[in-house]
Amino acid sequence: MAISRARARVVVALILVKFVILVNAQVLTTEFYDESCPEIYSIVKEEVQKAVEAEKRMAASLIRLHFHDCFVNGCDGSLLLDDPILGGTGEKLSRSNLNSTRGFEVIDTIKTRLESACPNTVSCADLLAIAARDSAVQVGLTDTYPVYFGRRDSLTASIDEANLRLPTPNSNYSVLKANFEFQGLDETDLIALSGAHTIGRVRCIVITVSNSSTDPNINAAFRDTLIKACDTANGTIDPPLQNLDVKTPDKFDNNYFKNLRRGEGVLTSDQTLQSTPGPNVGIVKDFAKNKENFFTQYGLSSIKMGYIRPLTGDQGEIRKNCRAVNSAPSSLVAYQ
Ligand code: HEM
Ligand SMILES: *[C@@H]1O[C@H](CO)[C@@H](O)[C@H](O)[C@H]1NC(C)=O
Ligand SMILES: *[C@@H]1O[C@H](CO)[C@@H](O)[C@H](O)[C@H]1NC(C)=O
Ligand SMILES: *[C@@H]1O[C@H](CO)[C@@H](O)[C@H](O)[C@H]1NC(C)=O
Ligand SMILES: *[C@@H]1O[C@H](CO)[C@@H](O)[C@H](O)[C@H]1NC(C)=O
Repeated sequence: MAISRARARVVVALILVKFVILVNAQVLTTEFYDESCPEIYSIVKEEVQKAVEAEKRMAASLIRLHFHDCFVNGCDGSLLLDDPILGGTGEKLSRSNLNSTRGFEVIDTIKTRLESACPNTVSCADLLAIAARDSAVQVGLTDTYPVYFGRRDSLTASIDEANLRLPTPNSNYSVLKANFEFQGLDETDLIALSGAHTIGRVRCIVITVSNSSTDPNINAAFRDTLIKACDTANGTIDPPLQNLDVKTPDKFDNNYFKNLRRGEGVLTSDQTLQSTPGPNVGIVKDFAKNKENFFTQYGLSSIKMGYIRPLTGDQGEIRKNCRAVNSAPSSLVAYQ
């Protein structure tokens, strides 16, 4: 009797779990805009293409925006809000975003076109998700992946949450693993998504490999070259920058992983994916040897990242302007 009741409870629990997973799986869909805004595909593709043709780096910058949005209170467009924010400070001034995240004007341009094609329909959070996908495809991701839609935009943003949740480049492997686990992402996701560092730039002030470093995992000649390159860049560009992928800096490929295997990861958080003993080493090796495996996993992990705590249904709103909530609370009107 007791056993069967316990068993019944287990069965009910399993049904509930299944139900929740099913419901959750349909929270976002690939067809979400098929009726309401089919233009989203051509508009975003065209504008991403234009922006990347004007500046190659923009593909990297747009990919990073989606990541930094999703890791802070879920994929809800919170990153895009300008100050002042109701009840605090926004995310743009946080440690990892200040003087660093960029591409906001491109998002504005796309949003303006979306609003004229289909007013009040496409969320800024969804816009970041598709712009990130189209950017990767634009610069070399040959295996495209479907983008799931239906996110809504937040009414707030949080500098504290951004400072807490965005990973820092001097982190060791266990810190990175825990950081991604908090978001429901595993080690494979961590490694595949870090592969976005196959394109883009980093400010020299963020690079922590130094000549005094005794890290045996970093290739010494590479480290010297990097330090010299930053010295040379200093004074010529403001801020001094380096490529995250020393071999093919603007092409989305698997060179990032080949670099790691030679000890040529630019950030500590990059090199540690290879240098820390564990199953991660095999994953890096697989992605270095097999570009298709990286591309497939990058798509899967991007979809998974795009599922981090979205606002759906009647939560939040569809912002008209990604930089501001639709109706500014009265306490903020004085600022405008
Ligand atoms: C694993 C933890 C990660 C850390 C610690 C990290 C850290 C950083 C840092 C420090 C920069 C340079 C920023 C600057 O100097 O202003 C950067 C750039 C970049 N990150 Fe990451 N990142 C991580 C994961 C990711 C993920 C998951 C993605 C996307 C899927 C990503 C995409 C990028 C891109 C594309 C750039 C270049 C941006 C540009 O050139 O504008 N990163 N990252
Ligand atoms: C950000 O950039 C501004 C303007 O160039 C500079 O004054 C400020 O010191 C920078 N802050 C950080 C934290 O890099
Ligand atoms: C990783 O870094 C954290 C925080 O700095 C530290 O507490 C931890 O001991 C480090 N773990 C390893 C394995 O080095
Ligand atoms: C650039 O050079 C100045 C003056 O020599 C120095 O103070 C600064 O730390 C350097 N910045 C970088 C990023 O190397
Ligand atoms: C780093 O140190 C080595 C010797 O310890 C030296 O030969 C090399 O020039 C240094 N590199 C830089 C960039 O200062």
